[in-house]
Amino acid sequence: MQDFTFYSPTYFVFGKGKENEAGHYVKRFCGSKVLIHYGGGSVKRSGLLDRVKASLEQEGIEYVELGGVKPNPRSGLVYEGIELCRNEGVDFVLAVGGGSTIDSSKAIAAGAIYDGDFWDFYQGKAIERALPVGTILTIAAAGSEGSPDSVITKEEGMFKRGASGEGIRPAFSILNPELTQTLPAYQTACGATDIMAHVFERYFTNTADVEITDRFCEAVLLTMVKEVPRVLADPNNYEARANIMWAGMTAHNNICGVGREQDWSSHDIEHELSAVYDCAHGAGLAVVFPAWMKYTVEHNPMRFAQIAVRLWGCQMDFENPVNTALAGIDAFKSFLRSIGMPVSFAELGAKEEDIPAMAEKCCHGDNRGGTVGNFVKLHQEDVENIYRL
Ligand code: NZQ
Ligand code: ZN
Repeated sequence: MQDFTFYSPTYFVFGKGKENEAGHYVKRFCGSKVLIHYGGGSVKRSGLLDRVKASLEQEGIEYVELGGVKPNPRSGLVYEGIELCRNEGVDFVLAVGGGSTIDSSKAIAAGAIYDGDFWDFYQGKAIERALPVGTILTIAAAGSEGSPDSVITKEEGMFKRGASGEGIRPAFSILNPELTQTLPAYQTACGATDIMAHVFERYFTNTADVEITDRFCEAVLLTMVKEVPRVLADPNNYEARANIMWAGMTAHNNICGVGREQDWSSHDIEHELSAVYDCAHGAGLAVVFPAWMKYTVEHNPMRFAQIAVRLWGCQMDFENPVNTALAGIDAFKSFLRSIGMPVSFAELGAKEEDIPAMAEKCCHGDNRGGTVGNFVKLHQEDVENIYRL
């Protein structure tokens, strides 16, 4: 196991009706003027936004609001939010929605107190300071409610890039599984795929002797395999929703990833797809991840075989562990298909002729160093091959 530091100070508030305590928690973290940030309207239709406003009013907290965050959030709205915060003297950003809304909120919170262009953070500068951010999560997926990360697409060139730093780890996150009951089945499944992908990005490592984090990872994956079909069969199954919601947080706050090298090339490869075709991040991952697994399986067949046995119940072939590994990858693909995810480039609406440009952008564009990933370092040609797979 590698040395590490782990500090995950987000205050999680989990359960039914907890969004009605938003004002209390904003006050606890010294917010007096809040920017409420949200997406394309689901939080209005569900009445959630009104409940959150009422909770702030009850505590005497002022607020301004900015809606319109799109899935795969864009830089334009971030600049707008930064201006609004500065003009209105906002001292707390409250995200009400999914990963896109939370990521846009984090970018605004960092940019509002930064002298330069907020995009500097998306080119490698760590975010050390930001306005405090609180979240009220409406979809179990990105894990942004517990992560120090944000992913934004710069409209000029359509670069989708991530920023990181303890400054943007949420001060508090309110997780009410009931809020996810209005999600369409497709979005539920996209979120589930993302959660599983966050675990796999950590699972495929070159670090030896990481039994404890292997087992945490497997617990999250086993939970997803059990609970996702239950939720798709009955969208109002609170207990299954609750398990998935907490799985989504634990998949990405790095409790599953400390002390081990992590990969993350599938995310980089996917981000080009959602930047170009504006597909859901989880749908893009459903296409990329099994292909990445097939492409890299020979690098360490035993690691793939281990998860094939422990997660999918595959029979171990000690003579030829690649057979077990491939059976596991097929089982993952079948699972993705069974929950309604696309598993091919064509199903995603992606085009063969775009492959070289996407692979080039993935490896070389906007401050990239020529390769992606760590489990296996992938060059542009490898990324092209994975898109083709
Ligand atoms: O915009 P609204 O109207 O709210 O609709 C959203 C959106 O259309 C809808 N939705 C959300 N909650 C709902 C709901 N509809 C009905 N009922 C509800 N309760 O779902 C759609 C997708 O929302 P979005 O926020 O885009 O989903 P998600 O949470 O999957 O976030 C995806 C973004 O997060 C990034 C992805 O790249 C993508 O841009 N990621 C962020 C990470 C992080 N910050 O740590 C890590 C991830 O790997 C990921 O890259
Ligand atoms: Zn993801």
